[in-house]
Order: sequence, then C-alpha cells, then structure tokens
Amino acid sequence: MNILKSNIVLIGFMGTGKTSTGRIIARRMKRKFVDTDELIEEDAGLSIKEIFKKKDEKYFRKIEKKVIKIVSDKKNLVISTGGGIIKYPVNIKRLKKNGVVVALLSDEKVILRRVSTQKDKRPLLNSGNRAQDQKRLRELLQKRLPLYFEAADYVVDASRLAPAQAAKKILCVLKKD
Ligand code: S3P
Repeated sequence: MNILKSNIVLIGFMGTGKTSTGRIIARRMKRKFVDTDELIEEDAGLSIKEIFKKKDEKYFRKIEKKVIKIVSDKKNLVISTGGGIIKYPVNIKRLKKNGVVVALLSDEKVILRRVSTQKDKRPLLNSGNRAQDQKRLRELLQKRLPLYFEAADYVVDASRLAPAQAAKKILCVLKKD
C-alpha cells in the first residue's frame, strides 16, 4: 500500500491529541479531515453527552461502527477516531483496508490534564467524582493500551509534543517508509 495515498487513521486514548494533530496533518497534506465523533453526532442528531445520557454506550458504539464503515471505504482522508474504537476488532479491520493506522500515546498525567477540559465529549470519565474518574481512567488505559499497540502500524508518543510537533513527527515517520 502506498502510505501517502491511503487514509491516515489516528487512534489512541482520550486526550492524546488525535483531533488537533489530525487537523494539522490534513492541512499539511491538503487532504480532507474527518473526526468520527463529529460524524456520530451528525448521524444521531445528538451530542456525545446526550447520546450517552438519553441512549447508552451500546447505541453510541453502534453508530460508531456504522460511521467507521463509511469512512473506511473512502480514500485520501485523515481520520481521527474515538478512543474506544479498538474495543471492536471489526473497526480496525475496516480502517486498515484503505488506511495506515497511527497510535498516539500519552502518559496518564497528561491525559488526565487534557480530559479535564472538554468533559462533555468524555462521558465515560465524567462522573462528577474526580477520584472515581481517575480510577476509571487508569482501568481503561490499562485495558486498552495493548489494543492500541496491536492495532497500530506506527506508534508515536505524544506526551511531550504539542499537536504541531506530533503532526510533524507522524509525517516524518510516514514519509520514511
Ligand atoms: C470514547 C472517547 C471519545 C468519544 C466517546 C468515547 C472512549 O473520543 O468517542 O466519549 O470510549 O474512549 P476521544 O478519544 O476523541 O475523546
């Protein structure tokens, strides 16, 4: 697969900077950028917070799968995904069909700081109880980290990188291949 012609798919835990980094990569490569969370909100006609509140996580994951199927069939996109897509191998299988998968990593402290803003987008970590959210974050991170590694063609540690620096690093890695 010619990497620079395929979709560039960013995966990773909440708060690793997928959306900001993806937007920059898309701008640099003059490509269209899509964010699966935004597409889910459009499809449901509800915000992520509302989907989790009025429906449930199962409903959210169902739309997430549908949206991933749609974007996976396209080409030349930069795709930013929600942190939970790796729960279902079918999502990764589809995204890999036309895409190269890059996992963004960040350490727990950085994630915690980042997710404390934009809480509405992260109902899974927004119980209202900080200690409980921190425990949940740790559990989820432990469970998911191996799945990001397993799914990724490339892994980039973005803990100490601003989105522009992470974008530069990813482009460098991809161009080398
Ligand atoms: C989720 C991550 C969120 C969003 C939803 C569920 C998850 O996206 O899809 O709140 O399960 O990790 P971000 O990773 O962009 O925060």
